[in-house]
Amino acid sequence: MLHPVVLSGGSGTRLWPLSRQNQPKQFLALVGERSLYQETILRAAALEGVQPPVTVCSEDHRFMVGEQLQAIGIASGGIVLEPVPRNTAPAIALAALHVLAGDPEATMLVMPADHLIEDEAAFRQAVATALGLGGDGWLVAFGIEPDYAETGYGYILRGEPLSGRDVGEGGYRIERFVEKPDLATAEQYLADGRYAWNSGMFLFRAQRYLDELGRHAPAILDAARKAYATPSPDLDFTRIDADAFALSPSDSIDYAVMEKTDRAAVVPVSCGWSDIGSWTSLWAVAEHDADGNRNEGDVISIDTTGSLIKASERRMIATIGVDDLVIIDTADATLVARKGRVQDVKAVVDALKAAG
Ligand code: GDD
Ligand code: MG
Repeated sequence: MLHPVVLSGGSGTRLWPLSRQNQPKQFLALVGERSLYQETILRAAALEGVQPPVTVCSEDHRFMVGEQLQAIGIASGGIVLEPVPRNTAPAIALAALHVLAGDPEATMLVMPADHLIEDEAAFRQAVATALGLGGDGWLVAFGIEPDYAETGYGYILRGEPLSGRDVGEGGYRIERFVEKPDLATAEQYLADGRYAWNSGMFLFRAQRYLDELGRHAPAILDAARKAYATPSPDLDFTRIDADAFALSPSDSIDYAVMEKTDRAAVVPVSCGWSDIGSWTSLWAVAEHDADGNRNEGDVISIDTTGSLIKASERRMIATIGVDDLVIIDTADATLVARKGRVQDVKAVVDALKAAG
C-alpha cells in the first residue's frame, strides 16, 4: 500500500521575518488560505487508494501539526516526533520503520511540506508511473525540467528508459545524481540539456530504502532503528528514543542515498512544481499586477516594479521609484532587500542567532 510521508522539519530561515523558529514557513499561509503543509497533506490524501499521510516533524511543532491537520479534517497516519533534527535521511528512516510496523509491503511517497504544485493531475499521473517502478525495487525521484542554474537543488542525469511493473514507459535509470553542484557545474548541466532538477519528492518501498540506507549510511540506519525500537504512541504522536536518535549522523537522503545507490530511477514530471525557498520564489509564483508587483495588505506603490511588498496589520507601506525589492513587515521586524539578494536572508538569521 502507498503511504504518503510528509517531511516537515525545515526551518525556512530564508523566509524571515515571517518564518520563525516556532512557526516555520511550511505552517504559514503564504499563498492562499491554507499553509504549505496543509496543501501537501491534501495533495497526498487526494491520491488514489492511498493510506492516511504520515508526518515527520520536530517535537516542538507537534501542536501546530495536530491543529493544522484537524483544521482540514484529514485523518493522520501518525506524527513521528524528532527530538533533534538530523536531516532527511534519518527522518525518512523513521517514517519507513513507522509504516513497516503496520504494513510490511509498504511503499512510501516522500513529500516535502514546503512545495507548491499547480497541476495535481500531472502529479498524480507521475505517481502512478513511479508506483510501477517502486514496486520493482527502484528508488524513484521525480525530475523537473530546469529553467536556470540553481545551485540549491540536486541534478539528475537520466540513463536508459525503464518499464515499470504496471505501467508502460515513463521512467529512466539515474545515470548520475549530483546534490547541490557549484554554479559552474550547474551551468554546465543546464547547457547539457539532459539533466533534471531533483524535486525532493521520492517514491520507494520502505524496506528497499532501509536496505539502501544500510548499505550506504549504516550509522544512520542503526541510530534510526534504535530510536524507533520502542516507540511510544501518544494519541496521533509517536515519540522515539531521543538519546539513540541524537547519535545519528545528520545527512540528507540526497547525499546519503541518492548520490550513491545504483537502484535509482527518475520519473520526469511537469506539474507546475516550485519550492518556496525564498522571497523571490514566492514572488515568482504569486499573482502580480501589471507592473510585476505583488502587494499584500495596505500598500501604495508609485513607479514601482517587480517587487514583493507585504504590509503587516500595524502599518501601511508606500514605495516610490523603486524596482525589484522585497519588503516584508511584521510586528517586530522589517526586511528590505533587493530581489536578487534574498538568499542572504539566511545571513540575517545567522547573525540574530549569534547575537542570542
Ligand atoms: N522531518 C524532517 N526532519 N524534515 C526535514 C528535516 C529534518 O531533519 N530536514 C529537512 N526536512 C524537510 C524540509 O522541511 C523540507 O520539506 C524537505 O525535508 C527538504 O529539506 P530542505 O532543507 O528544504 O532541502 P533542500 O531544499 O535544501 O534540498 C532538497 O530539495 C530540493 C528541491 O526542493 C534536495 O532533495 C534537493 O536535491 C532538491 O533539489
Ligand atoms: Mg527545500
